[in-house]
Amino acid sequence: MPPPNTDRSASTPTLTPPAITPSTAGSCEGDSFGTSSRAGLVPNPHIAFPKLTPLIQYLDSLRARADLSKLSSLLQSLDVTGSDIAGCCQFGVKGYRRNTIARSDWYELLALCWRSADCTPIHDHQGVSCAFKIIQGVGTEIRFSQTPSGLIRPVGFIEMNPGYVCAAEDADIHQVCNMQAAGTDLVTLHMYSPPIIAMNTYAFANFISPDAVASYIHTVPAFQSSFEAPSATGTPDLPC
Ligand SMILES: [Fe+2]
Repeated sequence: MPPPNTDRSASTPTLTPPAITPSTAGSCEGDSFGTSSRAGLVPNPHIAFPKLTPLIQYLDSLRARADLSKLSSLLQSLDVTGSDIAGCCQFGVKGYRRNTIARSDWYELLALCWRSADCTPIHDHQGVSCAFKIIQGVGTEIRFSQTPSGLIRPVGFIEMNPGYVCAAEDADIHQVCNMQAAGTDLVTLHMYSPPIIAMNTYAFANFISPDAVASYIHTVPAFQSSFEAPSATGTPDLPC
């Protein structure tokens, strides 16, 4: 079992922020696999989610990319339950849903809601500091590394219980899933600095010949469906 995933920040390269104007702090909007839909507005996140106020105040003060260890530390000390952010927790019809609580040019704060078997694509975090906390349920993080062949390989996984803080940045590659039984939801609170626009996604192999595929008797539908959903929409992936 690899060590806790909270100390991978060695540097925070400077970065020109993506343009997000105007600031939409206070809104609560969501998308699932890039299919955007508005989920109702929250006039003031400090009123709607008072336990997030210290976090939002810090994030609003950012004028550059946040240090990953700082984001992790803030989440570690944050005392938030599912009921504290229930007003911003909506689930997607297919795939996990990203509900935006607040954002500026330099950060995005979201509640992600996952049904059983919802997964991100395998992705990295180029140019972004990303930290999230398990609020409700048990999440699973699978980590990967690059190999000289250009293919990736899994290097371990972690079952993340409520309160666990996961952090990743730049070349870190992982996948996050709700692997709990059907009917058991997962809620996570995410911070990105700056907001993610697009990240690299990965698969295990570039090409498998039809003959090789035909030689297998069974495929695993649950595995396939995790990766078909994003590409089927033709929209960019926005992983966790
Ligand atoms: Fe991620």
